[in-house]
Amino acid sequence: MIVPPTSANIQLAAQMLENGELIGMPTETVYGIAASLNQPEAVARIFRVKGRPEGHPLIVHLAKPEQGFDLSSDIGPYFERLASAFWPGPLTMVLPKSDRVPSVATGGLDTVAIRVPKHPVALELLSILDAPVTAPSANRFTRLSPTQAGHIDREIAEHLALILDGGQCQVGIESTVLDLTGETPRILRPGHITPQMISQVVGVDVCIAGDMDGNKSPGLHPKHYSPRATVVLCESLSADQSGLTFDAAENANQISMPKDPVAYAARLYSELQKLDDLGVDHIFIAAPPVAPAWTAVWDRIKRSAHP
Ligand code: TXA
Ligand code: MG
Repeated sequence: MIVPPTSANIQLAAQMLENGELIGMPTETVYGIAASLNQPEAVARIFRVKGRPEGHPLIVHLAKPEQGFDLSSDIGPYFERLASAFWPGPLTMVLPKSDRVPSVATGGLDTVAIRVPKHPVALELLSILDAPVTAPSANRFTRLSPTQAGHIDREIAEHLALILDGGQCQVGIESTVLDLTGETPRILRPGHITPQMISQVVGVDVCIAGDMDGNKSPGLHPKHYSPRATVVLCESLSADQSGLTFDAAENANQISMPKDPVAYAARLYSELQKLDDLGVDHIFIAAPPVAPAWTAVWDRIKRSAHP
């Protein structure tokens, strides 16, 4: 059930999390399936609801950066600076985990991924609950992440005690995942927070995990973010094709996308969902520029086009 984010409903959602239920939580990136970290059985249920392999670790969401101290055995030299620069916001940091984190949340890894989301509804919920919340994107394994409450798949929604409607997610693609467990900070999943923005704060170069570097971050599957329709990358769309273009739309199934990468990312999943809902067989995506500012968008569309 999708409900408006009134104080009473946020309070109710917190109560449900405390009782070991799952709820749909809006964030500034995408909607998540939330479970309290204090309820390991609920955390385990997330994997079944998503159809997600058990070895794929979840992101733990916090109300305040200080809660991170409890969850990590060694925050290292960069965590605090990055947290004050980018939290609340779409940066996830991977740190060595403490005993406080049940291994079900980390897919058995000895590291934990944490972030403070920026959405006011998520922040209010997390502060009322006063416990960390694990929340993967609210999509079935390999499918599109929802950026509107109504885009959460029915097969997932039926397992959620309620879904808080936080409107359209502003960032529209998942957070940047940054591994802080090695010598050098390393981007595992590109996002709105870029390597340049991170370098500026930590004062060292940031490396980028190899494309499809599946070992270090088991959730980075080559096929992901896929609509039901087959996605085809192309230079430009012909007049009869459905999909995302940079030109003016030539038919009702073409969507003219912004030429700015941040604005493009904000709409990407919603527009793919719209085309999927129209029942088209193929979605053609006009290739964006090959430039650093487009890295996160490229990452998502390449995976969505993966056979
Ligand atoms: O924007 C987001 O991050 C959204 C919202 C709901 O916060 N959440 C999200 O969660 O995208 P999920 O589970 O769909 O993606 C989690 C990503 C995966 O790529 C996973 O491999 C990586 O984070 N990850 C989580 N824990 C990790 C760990 N301990 N080490 C390496 N990578 C980790
Ligand atoms: Mg996901």
